[in-house]
Amino acid sequence: MAANPLIDKVLEYLSHTETVDTLQLATEWEEDHQRIVGAVKSIQSSGDIIEVEQRSEVRTELTLEGREFVSKGSHEAILFAAVPSGGEGILLPDLMKITGPNGKIGMSKAMQAGWIKSVKEGNSNRVVRLKESIEDKVQETLRNVAAGTTELDKATMAEYKKRKLLVQNTVVFMVLRKARGFTTVIEKPETDLTPEMIASGDWKTKNFKAYNFDALGTPIPAGHLHPLMKVRSEFRSVLFEMGFSEMPTNRFVESSFWNFDALFVPQKHPARDAQDTFFVSQPSTCNSIPEDYMNRVKAAHEGGSYGSSGYGSNWKKEEALKNVMRTHTTAVSARMLYEIGQKKEFVPTKLFSIDRVFRNETLDATHLAEFHQVEGVVADKGINLGHLIGIMKEFFSRLGIKKLRFKPAYNPYTEPSMEVFAYHEGLKKWVEVGNSGMFRPEMLLPMGLPEDVRVIAWGLSLERPTMIRYGYDNIRDLVGPKVDLGMVYKSPICRLDKQLCGHSFGCSCNIQKDEKSDASTEEEEASLMSAKAQVRNSDKAKTRLQVIANHLALQNNKHSEKSEEKQQENMDNANPLTSHILDTSRGRPAAGVLVKLFKRGADGNWVFITEQSTNNDGRIGNLISGAQFTPAIYKLNFDTKSYFTSKGEKTFYPFIDVIFEIEKPEEHYHVPILLNAYGFSTYRGS
Ligand code: PHE
Repeated sequence: MAANPLIDKVLEYLSHTETVDTLQLATEWEEDHQRIVGAVKSIQSSGDIIEVEQRSEVRTELTLEGREFVSKGSHEAILFAAVPSGGEGILLPDLMKITGPNGKIGMSKAMQAGWIKSVKEGNSNRVVRLKESIEDKVQETLRNVAAGTTELDKATMAEYKKRKLLVQNTVVFMVLRKARGFTTVIEKPETDLTPEMIASGDWKTKNFKAYNFDALGTPIPAGHLHPLMKVRSEFRSVLFEMGFSEMPTNRFVESSFWNFDALFVPQKHPARDAQDTFFVSQPSTCNSIPEDYMNRVKAAHEGGSYGSSGYGSNWKKEEALKNVMRTHTTAVSARMLYEIGQKKEFVPTKLFSIDRVFRNETLDATHLAEFHQVEGVVADKGINLGHLIGIMKEFFSRLGIKKLRFKPAYNPYTEPSMEVFAYHEGLKKWVEVGNSGMFRPEMLLPMGLPEDVRVIAWGLSLERPTMIRYGYDNIRDLVGPKVDLGMVYKSPICRLDKQLCGHSFGCSCNIQKDEKSDASTEEEEASLMSAKAQVRNSDKAKTRLQVIANHLALQNNKHSEKSEEKQQENMDNANPLTSHILDTSRGRPAAGVLVKLFKRGADGNWVFITEQSTNNDGRIGNLISGAQFTPAIYKLNFDTKSYFTSKGEKTFYPFIDVIFEIEKPEEHYHVPILLNAYGFSTYRGS
């Protein structure tokens, strides 16, 4: 006997008849239709026993209320019966009491049918019959529907459906017939051919289960790479193809020495502030730094060696020993270059790394406190800025980015430094894709590298191209607790359009167009991308500080400096706009710089508001009062002439203008300036 008694029952029934359908069986046996369908399906899977034809039928069935109408009559008929015959009738409230909750609808239907009328009487109404007897058509029709003896016309069907007296369901059922191999006794078919069957010859008589070639395979429980790791593996292969070797990056906790000092980052640099860097409390310091190297680094910082004036400040070992979560992978590059410098003979080297870094950032839709950096380093004799530009062009073109622009920038460890911009074909604008430069001799010489060795390097984030590639507006959809794990399984593999289509990061020629985007043409794709970018920008930019200054973009600089000095705090609180100038060539605050604040009037002219000189800490505050600080375009003019003259600089830029737009003046804005005689930059974070 089969495991399911219904199987035997169906086969038994079919053995006496030509054909039967499953609905018929369900009614006859008072059995759930789905269970019968289940039994039929198992018979089907046991071989060529029955023929099954699937059919569907729209069935009209009475609702609970419809069935009540059949037994008790329609609401209107019940109401009519409650109205006494003769002209006297009944007062409406009394009638409602008798007929209960369905009285109201009965009343309106009976009036519509012209069976009764309602006449005003004092404060109430009297309901009187207009006919002596009525015919309850609704009840009768529903009775016929239930018995299956009537077909309703469209209008009646619609009306009854609206009154929720009946519903129409599509029922799928099966018509069964005997097949060639019909039997009432099912022998469980074999699913596997075993060595025993072959040895005994049993296989000749056994019944085997047919292969189901439509069955889906069991998903292989393999791991899935996160999109970030997919993009990482693409970047790795590009760099391997270019002959780079990978650096060991297994050191999330790093000493300030390797993260900053070895890179000639002055100990007073704002990026070393707890504001921007995570300091490790346990263990708070590192054990050892190569002693003589450390002394050479100290000398480089303090000045007078390597033909450099250094920062002229006191370099403190305690500061260098402090452990931090590494803020960039350039710390790894520094370790590697030091190792190369220690070797007897210099060998030209190309290195890269892709790993995680940590920054104490204000979190928003595009920034997290940890992210990944892609970094490349090339060390050789006789290489120069031209090689850096060439390598950048080659590297980015292998990622599908052809149009590049370079903009002077500032890094404490590179000179010259360049931000790299790429033209984004999707967004139709230039976007920043990386930072680069030539490592300074103050960094390389203490490492023991020969004087004529030049090192070019660059870095970029892994998250940015990944977000563009996979179309994410919010980094939290990609990293963190809110990530949908299904996304990790479903994301297509990453292709960076390497040489394939000539488009850039955002290009959606292949994978993205097929699987991620709804856009069908390139123009549509472009507008989709720009719409996404707008979302991203509006998310991020509560305030748009727009620098129209000569060559640097000041980013959203809502900066809540945690100052140790009480005085500073008061200054900030009392004043929504503050500034801080750091002289990067000296690693010290720039004191005594005259700063003028202007506001742009309706006529487009600059209206002078106030002026102030930076204090010994390089700061200014109390520039403008809250009441005066209204949404407008402002200009800060930094007169650095007397400052540089006092430092004995012969050539310098005497003025800096930073122009920005304030949209939300109720917040506190901080305009930090990094300055040297040859230029300046504003910074955010690092
Ligand atoms: N370390 C830089 C950063 O954090 C990137 C960089 C690497 C710049 C190497 C120049 C040279 O953004």
